[in-house]
Amino acid sequence: MKTLCLLLAVSLMVGVAVGVDRNNFKTCEQSGFCKRLRPYKPEKSQYVLNIDTVIVHGNALSAEVNTIDAESESKNVIWKYALKLSALLDGTFRIEIDEAEPLYPRYRTQLALDGEPKGDKLTLISNESGKLTLSNAQGHHVIITVEPLKFEFTDRAGEVAVVVNDNGQLVVEPLKTKVEGEDEDAGGENFKGHHDSKPRGNEALSIDIAFPEAEQIYGIPEHTDNFYLKTTTGGEPYRLYNLDVFEFELDSRMALYGAVPVLYSHGPKRSAGVFWHNSAETWVDVVNHAENTVVSSLVNLVTGGQKKQIDARFMSESGIVDLFVFLGDTPSDVFRQYTALTGVAPLPPRFSLAYHQSRWNYVDEADVRQVDDNFDAHDLPADVLWLDIEYTDQKKYFTWDPIKFAHPTEMVANLTAKGRKLVVIIDPHIKREAGYFLHDDATEMGLYVKNKDGKDYEGWCWPGSSSYLDFFDPEASKYYSERYKFENFPGTSKDVHIWNDMNEPSVFNGPEITMPKDARHYKTPEDGQDGLASYWEHRHIHNEYGLWHIRATHDGMLLRTNNQYRPFILTRSTFAGTQRYAAMWTGDNMAEWGFLRASVRQCLSVATAGISFCGSDVGGFFKYPEAELMTRWYQAGAYQAFFRAHSHIETKRREPWLYDSTTLSRIRDALRRRYVLLDFWYTLFYEHTIDGLPVTRPLFQEYPKELETYTIDEAYLLGDKLLISPVMEAGVTSVKVYLPGRESNTRWYDVDSYQTYEANGYMNVDVNINKVPVYQRGGTIVPRKERVRRSSQLMVNDPYTLIVALDANNTATGSLYIDDGETFDYKSNNYIYAKITYDSVKLSYKFVNTKATYPTKSWLERVVIAGIKSAPRAATLRSGAKSTPLQMTLHRGNDVLVIRKPAASMAQEWEIEFTY
Ligand code: NOJ
Repeated sequence: MKTLCLLLAVSLMVGVAVGVDRNNFKTCEQSGFCKRLRPYKPEKSQYVLNIDTVIVHGNALSAEVNTIDAESESKNVIWKYALKLSALLDGTFRIEIDEAEPLYPRYRTQLALDGEPKGDKLTLISNESGKLTLSNAQGHHVIITVEPLKFEFTDRAGEVAVVVNDNGQLVVEPLKTKVEGEDEDAGGENFKGHHDSKPRGNEALSIDIAFPEAEQIYGIPEHTDNFYLKTTTGGEPYRLYNLDVFEFELDSRMALYGAVPVLYSHGPKRSAGVFWHNSAETWVDVVNHAENTVVSSLVNLVTGGQKKQIDARFMSESGIVDLFVFLGDTPSDVFRQYTALTGVAPLPPRFSLAYHQSRWNYVDEADVRQVDDNFDAHDLPADVLWLDIEYTDQKKYFTWDPIKFAHPTEMVANLTAKGRKLVVIIDPHIKREAGYFLHDDATEMGLYVKNKDGKDYEGWCWPGSSSYLDFFDPEASKYYSERYKFENFPGTSKDVHIWNDMNEPSVFNGPEITMPKDARHYKTPEDGQDGLASYWEHRHIHNEYGLWHIRATHDGMLLRTNNQYRPFILTRSTFAGTQRYAAMWTGDNMAEWGFLRASVRQCLSVATAGISFCGSDVGGFFKYPEAELMTRWYQAGAYQAFFRAHSHIETKRREPWLYDSTTLSRIRDALRRRYVLLDFWYTLFYEHTIDGLPVTRPLFQEYPKELETYTIDEAYLLGDKLLISPVMEAGVTSVKVYLPGRESNTRWYDVDSYQTYEANGYMNVDVNINKVPVYQRGGTIVPRKERVRRSSQLMVNDPYTLIVALDANNTATGSLYIDDGETFDYKSNNYIYAKITYDSVKLSYKFVNTKATYPTKSWLERVVIAGIKSAPRAATLRSGAKSTPLQMTLHRGNDVLVIRKPAASMAQEWEIEFTY
């Protein structure tokens, strides 16, 4: 066994990329419930609402739903289910269907929601001809058909936007006492030598959702396929099952490290969406009836035309039906409706938005020092150095290698002297070594996940034989959180942050490289503690495991500073709600152009699923990026939220100075592009905490009527202000850039030249290797800090430049957020959040919350107004009681006005008045 595991570990470590081994991962056919449920085609849905049991009270309707024997005349009830339909605030509904009297409690996903959703009013409007019509306070209607059970949700215009169980594919397999030999699947399943004992038998479920008039649907990350979802008929469904997929492939619907079961529909009429609140293995089928598939051709034949509708179907191995329905109307509405349920990302510490330098591994303290010094020697800004698993004492987390990292405190002090930070990795697997305090404690206190026989589960990971903390046990989470206290993890300080990796969880010798589904987790006693009722199986909670892990880490990091400092955590495994605790990255990619392109769509997809703080290993994890790819990757990474270079232990070193001097200077330029915009990024993340919208946005979010934007997933927007269209192809001298906003007379400014372009769809742009196509929308103001220093902390007091890009009406607006960058003091009004507006008569800087202040030393160094039609004669700064005349110059064909040194303090409100 040990040799086999070692071989496995070694093969996982070797950096020679050969591509994914598909045999390690199940297809739908190999996954018992997917195989059972996928072909299910009801003649007539068996699920019927028992109308005599309907009660409407407050924000909810409750009723019994029965499956009936459609063959029998008396329509015998086969099984009873409990239905609850709730109206929630902000155009959201929730459908819950559980067994009325389950043999054991069915699992309800626990950590995805950010608290109990808030209810709206639900009113029964009519009950006639087998249909109930209800309405919420906003005028959305739900029409429930009694037989077969179906839910139609209307938008505010009264048109049907979402239909649940349109195709009658609602299935909830009831829990039954197992009878030996009765059902092949229920008795257990085998995959590649692994046996899943399935102690509860079958308990799968499925439901279908139709989106009438949708042009595209999006979501259910994480996959490497396009952001918009495609018809799965005849191929594999999209799979949601958090897995460590070694050398994952491109354009694939295979499972990856993360699973966020949210899905949005969009078309010129409206956006809508659903959130399938389930943490078990899930497969999702999609049929776009407008696509030319066999199925849709048949439908078209019958309907006599192209039916514009997209259907999706969720199939999960366990749990209850718990479906949230978002009724839009716009993309921003549905994205916000989702974060209203699962939470927004808290304001990150400012440094975490800057550049991170990582490698598996920086080998010792001298190496760290050299890398750190080289950033200075080559005039490259950097905020964070990272240590991968080798810094520990033989992969025992919360320890340091006694020889290579013998002086962590000094090492950290050396970094913080330049305003830099350290991030260290802490994985959830625990080395099973007697004498290792964590293992001893966890064994003694019973904090590990158990195997199917109730013994501590043992799997193989980096340290060799390992066990896994059961974060579902409050004691285990508490114990783990406390390990992050400075006294328990000597060498760390508030400037050491955490990387939680391998938390799918990855188990090298487990089925599909993860934990067996019949492993046992802690369950709170209230639902009974006998036999099967006394624990949850890993099957129920799998996709949530990483979320519980990072929550414990997050709690620990708050604990260690007594809630004073904001933590930064990076996670690989993601689920709905991850954004509340951590940033994510896309895992072990390759130094290939295709993976650079995939990084953009992967991050776009997770950003709309609540997790804006996303990036990819810059340069690629496996293989070696040659100079051009590396340059382009830095240029693209500079405009992605999480900006970190990282590489595999077996690959050639690739710190920027190891490239030729021209490449180095191009990388320097890319890094500077990031640093000048850091306060803009920070402001966007602050605004996300208020409005719950993605920081990085698909074009259709801001231009929902523009059809061409629906399938653009290699360009995106930062907030509603910058359009990023990175060059992601080798050797090109010209690229196509799409400028949206034709209908609204939008104009775009090339950020390098202030050259103006009227929005008119695609245009060709000449690109030499230095060019990064980035455009500022006319009508916006973007703050910059142009003096780039060694780290973001050293730039804190530096002055701002405001770039005012005018729209067709000569106006523009923007905002700026400033605080101390690291504490929670902003929660007690220690911050500045200013709206900046320009209307040709004046430019004003006004605080949104006048009670909030922050004594920033930053001042206004320059204002650039691009797209000006007639130049003002004079400009006067008014700040407090003072009036100061200002100097101006005109540039570039006289349409760019530069105001030099207004020198206004950004700690106070001010105005610049223009006279003509
Ligand atoms: C897997 C991670 O994806 C990778 O980034 C890391 O370097 C290795 N684990 C080693 O910790």
